[in-house]
Amino acid sequence: MRRETTFIHLTDLHIGTPDDDHLYSDTTETLLQVLDLVDTVTPKPQFFIASGDLTNRGDAASFRRLKEILEARIHVPVIYALGNHDTRPGFYEGMGIAVEDQNAPYDHDTVIGDIHIITLDSSTPGLIGGTIDPEQFDWLEAALDRHPDLPKLIVVHHPPALGEEADVTHWRTIHFPQSERLRDMLKGRNIIGILSGHIHHDRVSVWHGIPVVVGTGQHAATDILRTDILRMVRGASFGIGTIRPSGLTMAFVPLPSDRAELNTYPLELLLARAMPVAAE
Ligand SMILES: [Fe+2]
Repeated sequence: MRRETTFIHLTDLHIGTPDDDHLYSDTTETLLQVLDLVDTVTPKPQFFIASGDLTNRGDAASFRRLKEILEARIHVPVIYALGNHDTRPGFYEGMGIAVEDQNAPYDHDTVIGDIHIITLDSSTPGLIGGTIDPEQFDWLEAALDRHPDLPKLIVVHHPPALGEEADVTHWRTIHFPQSERLRDMLKGRNIIGILSGHIHHDRVSVWHGIPVVVGTGQHAATDILRTDILRMVRGASFGIGTIRPSGLTMAFVPLPSDRAELNTYPLELLLARAMPVAAE
């Protein structure tokens, strides 16, 4: 393994247009600010991860805009994952990716340097919470076998459920039974870390021995001190990742913010849109 690999973790970019009244900040401007800061990072990153909610409405035009911005500024690979705000047809069309089935999950893997990066599509059309279908687990199993000797990063928009039983706030995570299946499948597979977003705050957990890193992202921040409602405040950050033979380090770079309130959502609304009744 090479001595040091540096990468940038972006998430929840929520690229959209000003006529979108569910866009609470100028996400294009924030992304450009972040890219300016990234230009100063040394050593230079070898790849970027954009772990979902790439766009705010999932339309092809927003994906095209994102692609244009990133291609103009970034000259190393960008690993894209899809989030609940994205749509698969919009992504494939806007990014110019030819597929037979526009509704197929965007699961993919690649090797950069000597890191095997596996990306899972946890988006579930029309729902906030994350799911991984049985066919996707079959795909993951095959992907994990492709480069058994290489250390692996998993990229997935929804972080796995951390607790020992299904949580009432399951809209925040991969559905609990599928989180458990993921845990079993990743066991002993040399996973350096899981990179996620979705909950819009910087957070590191160790989940069955695997670091799970969530970034605030580049749209808005969750006020984690409010548990009775979902309160969004002004705030953004990005992550600088370093992989060494000893493991993963993440440094979070928050942008200056007054943390002014942007919006609040009642938890009941989120719960109602969290999960299909027969998700398993
Ligand atoms: Fe998001």
